[in-house]
Amino acid sequence: MQHPSTIATWNRSPAEEEAMGAAHAPIWRRMIDVSVPHGLHESTILDYGCNQGGFLRMLFDRHPFKNAVGIDIARESVARAELLKGQRPIDYKVADNAAALGRRFDFAFSHEVIYLLRDVAAHARDIKAALRPGGAYVAAMGCHVDSAVWPRWRMLIAETSSIPIYDHSLEDVSRAFFQAGFTVAVRPLDLDAFMPVTVGSAYFPKIVDQLRYYSQDKVLFRFVRTP
Ligand SMILES: C[S@@+](CC[C@H](N)C(=O)[O-])C[C@H]1O[C@@H](n2cnc3c(N)ncnc32)[C@H](O)[C@@H]1O
Repeated sequence: MQHPSTIATWNRSPAEEEAMGAAHAPIWRRMIDVSVPHGLHESTILDYGCNQGGFLRMLFDRHPFKNAVGIDIARESVARAELLKGQRPIDYKVADNAAALGRRFDFAFSHEVIYLLRDVAAHARDIKAALRPGGAYVAAMGCHVDSAVWPRWRMLIAETSSIPIYDHSLEDVSRAFFQAGFTVAVRPLDLDAFMPVTVGSAYFPKIVDQLRYYSQDKVLFRFVRTP
């Protein structure tokens, strides 16, 4: 278990939690574009830290899958995900342990969750237990100590997050997954979208900070479970 209990929402402000999905949509689109290798009709999918569930809804609408599970410790966000899923074959559950689902998924995804986990090695073992041999986990990570904006972001996110934040390097994360029995690959997210500019943004004081973040600092790991 990574966190002692569940929470109502991850962001202390429910309104900001509600706005997060729209802000992340261009990033999810890019994750899907560069990491989904083929049709998913026969595939089962896990989204770890799904919040209101938007990633799996987008994935299903673009590449219909057999079924999926999204887990998150934020109770109100998971309830919202269940409401929003419509007829899609997705179960959203309040949970922090993927292995406890008792399933073997073909693919797992997470977007900006690993920096909220104290024990990355335990997370790697948990994901391993929830993936079939040969299954792949694609994890997006911009919140890490090697990002140029991290010192600033760490303070800003700590004000809004209802749980602690951890300082992991890309090496720490790679090592944890390698030692758990995954092959490790990485690429920049290299976002290919126009992103809104907020003049005077606390997150991106200069526009070059934003350009560097989305083209270089924010990465996608692909961890493939070895047999
Ligand atoms: C920055 S948000 C990202 C949410 C979503 N992946 C997205 O792209 O919008 C991080 C999410 O991870 C969840 N989370 C944090 N620790 C978790 C844990 N141990 N198990 C499951 N979810 C967790 C939070 O509740 C929150 O919803």
